[in-house]
Amino acid sequence: MTFKVPDHILSIPAYVPGKPIEEVERERGIRGSIKLASNENPLGPSPKAIEAVRGILAGVHRYPESGGFELTRRLAGRLKLTPEHIVLGNGSDDIIAMLGTAYLQPGNEVVMARPSFQMYEIVTRAAGAVPVEVPLKAFHNDLAAMAAKLTPRTRMVFLNTPHNPTGTIVNRAELEAFMAALPAEVILVLDEAYIEFARTPGGPDSAEYVRAGRPVVGLRTFSKVYGLAGLRVGYGLMPPAVAEVLNRVRQPFNVNLLAQKAAVAALDDDEFLDETLRVVHAGVDYLQRALGALGLECLPTHSNFLFFRVPKPAREVFEDLLDRGVIVRPLASYGYPEHLRVSVGRPEENARFVEALQQVLGV
Ligand SMILES: Cc1ncc(COP(=O)(O)O)c(C=O)c1O
Repeated sequence: MTFKVPDHILSIPAYVPGKPIEEVERERGIRGSIKLASNENPLGPSPKAIEAVRGILAGVHRYPESGGFELTRRLAGRLKLTPEHIVLGNGSDDIIAMLGTAYLQPGNEVVMARPSFQMYEIVTRAAGAVPVEVPLKAFHNDLAAMAAKLTPRTRMVFLNTPHNPTGTIVNRAELEAFMAALPAEVILVLDEAYIEFARTPGGPDSAEYVRAGRPVVGLRTFSKVYGLAGLRVGYGLMPPAVAEVLNRVRQPFNVNLLAQKAAVAALDDDEFLDETLRVVHAGVDYLQRALGALGLECLPTHSNFLFFRVPKPAREVFEDLLDRGVIVRPLASYGYPEHLRVSVGRPEENARFVEALQQVLGV
């Protein structure tokens, strides 16, 4: 093909998703695999969300409401914000993309941790801007080092807390000091995809900063605790002036009808949320104990996944687990060739993972 592709587009690395069950089973000729690789909800979707989707199926010949009136209003009520503070996305990925399209141009710099969620680098490069990556320090976002990387060309900082793939969070006082030192033209994006799983109260919360009128964008999602990853719905909380700009580049019907209805129903499904948190927290405790008993180093987590080190190349362990129908996430592409990430599953899935790992490691 002779079409000219701009160099900044060619510099974008391909996104590496978790391996789907179907692919693993096709490649290996096995059945009954379990996927603990994409931090999804182990209980499935909220039953109320399923019911809501069923109820609206006959209406899918209609376009959805462009701004997601009902969902936006409900979220605003819960977060003690106004609908003008909220933009919905086709997953929070979509909000990250809108931020890049609306605010970045060639020559700008965007500060982010290395490793961090791959979409930050993708949208930065797609805009012709430059990702400035700051290594984690002892598996935590290094705010002092990030502050040291700010230049007059910096336009955005992506900060993921709880952090994927390590599960660590940033300290509130350190974050507030960092925010105070940010130049006025820099947008701080706090990606809180996993915030609902955090167990220790008192961690930073973007809603509080947005309520106080700070120049912060918080990113949240229905993909994790609400169990709607396949429908793709997320949201951003931000100053109304930023929301107004994002709405200029937002695709008019970016959140589909089923996703909007499901999200409204899931938001009110307290029973499902409580059960999800109970199962995930019990699963975290079980897995932490089990990995410790196998002699493996595992970080404490504020999320629904665990980050742990294995005593031989993690890629091999990953492949051997695949042979046993257990899909986890290898982290070499994140710069951690000795670590794996496992999402918390249902109790029987967690036990199966531990048993398979024990066999693979021969311990
Ligand atoms: C840190 C982080 N941010 C954002 C996302 C994107 O989530 P969504 O499904 O809402 O696009 C993920 C998904 O895994 C994530 O881990």
